[in-house]
Amino acid sequence: MNVHKNSNPIGIFDSGIGGLTVLKEIHRQIPGENLIYFGDTARVPYGIKSAETVRRFSREIADYLVRLDIKMLVVACNTASAAALNTLRESLPIPVVGVLMPGAYAASRATHTGRVGVIGTESTVASGAYDRLIRNIRPGTEIFALPCPLFVPLVEEGRLTGEITALVAKEYLSPIKEKKIDTLVLGCTHYPLLKPVIGEVMGGSVTLIDSADETAREVRRVLTKNGLLNLGEIPPRSPLCQKGEGGDLNTGFIRYYVTDAPERFKAIGERFLGYEIPEVGKAEL
Ligand code: DGL
Repeated sequence: MNVHKNSNPIGIFDSGIGGLTVLKEIHRQIPGENLIYFGDTARVPYGIKSAETVRRFSREIADYLVRLDIKMLVVACNTASAAALNTLRESLPIPVVGVLMPGAYAASRATHTGRVGVIGTESTVASGAYDRLIRNIRPGTEIFALPCPLFVPLVEEGRLTGEITALVAKEYLSPIKEKKIDTLVLGCTHYPLLKPVIGEVMGGSVTLIDSADETAREVRRVLTKNGLLNLGEIPPRSPLCQKGEGGDLNTGFIRYYVTDAPERFKAIGERFLGYEIPEVGKAEL
């Protein structure tokens, strides 16, 4: 069995750039951790694929990251969390954290009326995972779930604002707006990138739940529980280190890998993260 040092990185994966919403929050809350981000850009979107296929993709990525000696895996994708979290937990020798449970807890706390909307990929909505989790935590909650498949390509295209995105959001969200919900779960890690547009359509009385914040807290909690929190052992700067992020005294490194089009990932990713991504590696699975 591998012995994981606290300075070993945390592996974070998504089908594309959506999981950067989770990476950003983990880096903000526990900046001492070394992070490896994996975006499966060759095979995005996951949300319209079968659960079996998403499980296979997730397993391949997890194996790749485990070979890089990660100490924990974060499934920063709702679709993969719904389809593969249990299998990954059973088979990997490291702690595995998903995004569904943290999002469900945040929604249950936020709602006053007990009327909660959930938007996600077709696959996440069809799995009914959020409905089950939220009703378990807060019995009696009424859930209105809706797939919004076009949101993912819009984000992957970098169309985070603008007329087309606003029109799609209006069209998708009107039926859920009519349900008079007070809380809306952004049940896909790509959707927080569209928060301004979604917030505009839903109006100020609806709380938008972005599970990134809760997931980062859960990551910290699980690391602490397992004695794996990195208390300042930053390894020497690697060529893939984030400039200004890696090799500094107080912050860990961030490395990025994708399965296709690293330059495109870099351009859109930088716009969202607000800092430079010096290098994106191309991973062969
Ligand atoms: N970001 C992913 C999620 O949270 C999936 C997007 C996709 O690949 O369809 O569900």
